[in-house]
Amino acid sequence: MSAVRLSYSSSSSLTRVGAGFLPSASRRAVSQFALPFHSLRRPPTSFGAVAASLRPSPLAAIYLRVFQRAGGRAFSSSAGRVAGMRCAASDPAQLRSAREDIRELLKTKFCHPILIRLGWHDAGTFDKNIEEWPQRGGANGSLRYDIELNHAANAGLVNALKLLQPIKDKYSDITYADLFQLASATAVEEAGGPKIPMRYGRVDVTGPEQCPDEGKLPAAGPPSPADHLREVFYRMGLNDKEIVALSGAHTLGRSRPERSGWGKPETKYTKDGPGAPGGQSWTVQWLKFDNSYFKDVKEQKDQDLLVLPTDAVLFEDPSFKVYAEKYAEDQDAFFKDYAEAHAKLSNLGAKFDPPEGISIDDDAKGAVPEPFQAAKYSSRKKELSETMKQKIREEYEAIGGSPDKPLRSNYFLNIMIVVAVLALLTSLLGN
Ligand code: HEM
Repeated sequence: MSAVRLSYSSSSSLTRVGAGFLPSASRRAVSQFALPFHSLRRPPTSFGAVAASLRPSPLAAIYLRVFQRAGGRAFSSSAGRVAGMRCAASDPAQLRSAREDIRELLKTKFCHPILIRLGWHDAGTFDKNIEEWPQRGGANGSLRYDIELNHAANAGLVNALKLLQPIKDKYSDITYADLFQLASATAVEEAGGPKIPMRYGRVDVTGPEQCPDEGKLPAAGPPSPADHLREVFYRMGLNDKEIVALSGAHTLGRSRPERSGWGKPETKYTKDGPGAPGGQSWTVQWLKFDNSYFKDVKEQKDQDLLVLPTDAVLFEDPSFKVYAEKYAEDQDAFFKDYAEAHAKLSNLGAKFDPPEGISIDDDAKGAVPEPFQAAKYSSRKKELSETMKQKIREEYEAIGGSPDKPLRSNYFLNIMIVVAVLALLTSLLGN
């Protein structure tokens, strides 16, 4: 990542803020020095940092040049870091490009379900009772290490990692933790699911010794499914509503007996793919994100569709059932709760750099500007006093007008102004 970006994407609002009013040549020159937003947020601690903390503008460019000439610490383009200043964990421009690559991957490989499962299994190891990072587990990229990939619950997820690795190699300034969550959220959205309010900037663990212990993820057939789900998901800080909403992700994908031990080797819905054929799906259209999971689990009519004990319990436990019934009836309600729960899941245990995270969605895009209303910005609506109204009326009348009618044009004054301007012009031209 270049801390001082040599060309910033034209869609960057920063470049627009800094140089929007300039002719294109100057704009290009200014944009050469547009600083990535995320690198500018820490409190400045030195002259160089003060210069860098200026919002992108011609002034920022000049300050930076002066600082560099004055022998300030050089910007390391190879390491992509400003010496003495740390950048965010992932680069927003690269995250956006990677999202495009993930969309292409989904179109050719139909790997939406396994990418969602990858993101969930990286995050789902979180333990809210452990304060320290990364001991607390969660969305920290630890699932890239063999030791964790080899946990029984993660059988098959090595295939998801293999699909994403070329994208990781292409974008050196995206962390695994972010890439897993980006891939998962993008897969939900591309399958027709809700937009997930994601943020990025997750820091990666740095070694296999930082992986969580085995056994943090839920089992599909425990003796008491409701108790088990609560034990596991409460440990993550999630509640009953979130357990049910997130289980709705099984509207996508298949279970394969050779991986998890659950499901049929193939059904009429899976024998031809798309993607690698086989397995048993929870729904008929298992690449379409909708609320059919709740309808199908409720009915349990089709022998070719899977219902795990932890799926069935959603319609048995009185508290889970409230949500499961609601989602079977109302897809909008499911989408809303799913999007919130997925975003929360994706942040579990994550350490963000910058701490507030990075958004890669252009919120301003398509937004209709609100008409300006001065009254909206006044602290209180207050009627003018009668004395004040009278005073204003008197002032208007003194110059021949009235607050109720437009002021009559003062022809004499207009002529005087024209004469004065002409006189000024004549004297300037004479000189
Ligand atoms: C509630 C507890 C859960 C249990 C017991 C459970 C269990 C399972 C099992 C056994 C499989 C089959 C894996 C295989 O054979 O390849 C599976 C697949 C899947 N799970 Fe879950 N899961 C749970 C929650 C979740 C959550 C919270 C999500 C996402 C938010 C999720 C997303 C998926 C997806 C998308 C697949 C399909 C993967 C594919 O087709 O490759 N699951 N799950």
